[in-house]
Amino acid sequence: RTAVKVVNRTFWLSMLAGIGSFYYVTQKDRTPGPQLPHDPDKKTIVVLGSGWGATSFLNHLDTADYNVVVISPRNYFLFTPLLPSVAVGTLSPRSILQPTRYVTRHKTRAVEVIEAEAQSVDPVNKTVSFVDNSDIQGSVSSTTIPYDYLVYAVGAETQTFGIPGVTEHACFMKELNDAEKVWPSFREFLLTDHRLESAAFPGQSEAEIERLLHMVVVGGGPTGVELSGELHDFLEEDLKSWYPELAGKIKITLVEALPSVLPMFSKRLIDYTMSTFKESKIDILTQTMVKEVKERSVILAMPDKSIVDMPCGMVVWAAGNRGRKTNKRGITIDEYMEMKGSNGSIFAIGDCTSSAHAPTAQVAQQQGSYLARAFAQRVKRDRLVDQVADLERSAAMSLHEDDRKKALEEAEGAKRQLAKFKIRPFSYSHQGTLAYIGSDKAIADLPFLNGSFASGGLLTYYFWRSAYISTLFSLRNRTLVATDWLRTKVFGRDVSRE
Ligand code: FAD
Ligand code: NAI
Repeated sequence: RTAVKVVNRTFWLSMLAGIGSFYYVTQKDRTPGPQLPHDPDKKTIVVLGSGWGATSFLNHLDTADYNVVVISPRNYFLFTPLLPSVAVGTLSPRSILQPTRYVTRHKTRAVEVIEAEAQSVDPVNKTVSFVDNSDIQGSVSSTTIPYDYLVYAVGAETQTFGIPGVTEHACFMKELNDAEKVWPSFREFLLTDHRLESAAFPGQSEAEIERLLHMVVVGGGPTGVELSGELHDFLEEDLKSWYPELAGKIKITLVEALPSVLPMFSKRLIDYTMSTFKESKIDILTQTMVKEVKERSVILAMPDKSIVDMPCGMVVWAAGNRGRKTNKRGITIDEYMEMKGSNGSIFAIGDCTSSAHAPTAQVAQQQGSYLARAFAQRVKRDRLVDQVADLERSAAMSLHEDDRKKALEEAEGAKRQLAKFKIRPFSYSHQGTLAYIGSDKAIADLPFLNGSFASGGLLTYYFWRSAYISTLFSLRNRTLVATDWLRTKVFGRDVSRE
């Protein structure tokens, strides 16, 4: 009995302690303290973007040393790896975004956050011009500000290769509003008069019903594969119960131009994905290129070079990235993230650069934290430069020989430290690649004991979930995502039409 009592008491005490510390952490997060104001004697860093690269940079930068201004057309960070889950309603959109001010309000010095789109940079006069593109604008909607250092972290755009009909007829999977468009259009696709009722309309031909209920995902990279897996889950876990007469007729086709999907994964995991998709009845067409997207079909160039007009009711375009308008191939940088030819004043990180690394969140995040550390080093170096100048000046102005000698000796010491001072180049540490493939299965290629560890299945799926939960930047997001997962497990996804 005593043992039971002790266990009971320990349980309740630890519950109380857990709730108490959760409350303390959340409240501390919600009530940031006062911040230092901008200091005209400090250098100003202007950061363009609020995605993976920029957020990681802001998280790691010591703002005591710099004035910082962030310019981005969206005032939040988007956790892209969980975007396909938003597109099918497993997660709510708000659960995977974090307002940029949640990061900046916790910095030592106030950071200015401006919701605007950078339009041009003048590297000679060191200024950046930007415009407010929002629907509601004040009397000023464009302006120019100076910078000492500029950090490009503007990401990439969806690649359409100029293929006709893509912009007009396909949905994308890049930004939150893309997923937010896919979700209603997916529900519209299934639930509105236009699709479901049309499919059920008396006398509707079988071919037309098939077309209306056929979804095509273009691109067998991780985005297309994860989205196909999530679409399949929605069909299996929810639509089968609520629309039994239709569920069997809904078809998903994944189209990939290369000989296989997921080229960045090992052969074993590619085969595992292909066989899982086969069981899930997701058709994969490899070596097949989408040539045109029409209102009611896609035009395919098949492996045997024949051209096929494949009827479908909905197309999601996940065919990769390209650089933003200004620089389609990406900004050329060196191993210090410095833009070539910018004289140490312009840096670029993440998907907007052209580097040897893949355009992934992992790379952008590591480049952001590297650059923040490099800026801390730069402050130390600048301090040494100032110290040398001050000591040489005081030596020149000294009236006594002893003072002059002492100042010169100290200046020499500072110069020696300066000569030894080196900012290390960026080096990428690959943490592995994970992808969700539907049916509660995930695949993982992990660098393990200097080799590579490939795994797939249910355990990997739980690993995938825990890895993403721990990668989310805040306790708030972790809690929201975990409760969304629980909500979906218990109540299923919402199939009502708004
Ligand atoms: P982004 O995160 O795209 O941020 C760019 C920022 O720049 C945005 O805030 C944007 O609003 C802003 N911006 C744009 N134009 C301007 C302008 N003119 N002025 C100022 N700001 C501007 N990678 C992984 O490693 N693992 C994954 O699991 C994974 N899953 C993904 C799932 C999906 C659906 C997608 C689309 C991508 C996924 N990625 C994943 C890739 C990853 O999201 C990108 O590599 C990453 O977002 C790149 O970070 P970034 O900071 O360079 O760009
Ligand atoms: P991607 O570039 O990896 O894949 C796009 C695919 O579309 C390519 O395989 C390409 O051959 C195919 N394609 C292009 N045009 C086509 C056409 N006309 N017809 C048929 N197929 C066509 O793009 P994705 O998946 O958006 O990924 C972008 C980046 O984000 C990559 O670096 C990826 O690694 C990363 N990412 C990582 C994830 C993860 O680790 N789980 C998840 C999502 C993205």
